[in-house]
Amino acid sequence: PVRVAILISGSGSNMVRLVESMTGEHPARPVLVLSNVPGAGGLDRARALGVPTAVVDHRAHPDRAAFEAALEEALAPARPDLICLAGFMRVLSADFVARRAGRILNIHPSLLPKFRGLDTHARALAAGETRHGCTVHEVTPALDDGPILGQAEVPVLPDDTPETLAARVLEAEHRLYPAVLRRVAEGDRTPLRLD
Ligand code: GAR
Repeated sequence: PVRVAILISGSGSNMVRLVESMTGEHPARPVLVLSNVPGAGGLDRARALGVPTAVVDHRAHPDRAAFEAALEEALAPARPDLICLAGFMRVLSADFVARRAGRILNIHPSLLPKFRGLDTHARALAAGETRHGCTVHEVTPALDDGPILGQAEVPVLPDDTPETLAARVLEAEHRLYPAVLRRVAEGDRTPLRLD
């Protein structure tokens, strides 16, 4: 099977959806859930699902090179073919990404190329968008860039706050990411569109 490592920093709701999707005749299997935040809620959820976990605390390392060396060390025994970033809130260096060209996926809570970076929901509201959503893309050295593998749209409603909009987008993420992972594991990288 295609071996998948999932990198998280937080609650890991996307990670759970990815892990739960990889059963039966699915071509991929989860081999590791790794968090850069020691207390991340997703770690307990991964353990409950029977997936091996690891923690590489970025604050325990003096710089990004040292952090990434530790990351490499933690990833190596799992021998992942693919790395899925799922709410992983650290930027990976160009070197780290280049070593795995096309083999790191990310989910971003906006319709890229709109709203790269943070606070996407507040920014979409401030911009008066009527449609918003999420994107799964290949990770390249440029932030929230790289070939788009799938997008899911949601409406922006008149009374939305960043929180209500985030919740609607998160539901779309939970549908989109497993669908894209499956296609990529099957060798299909044509962009997927969910509405
Ligand atoms: C998700 O909305 C994801 O798109 C976002 O963090 C959330 C993680 O939720 N990712 C980013 O903002 C990446 N820069 P989760 O931990 O419940 O999956």
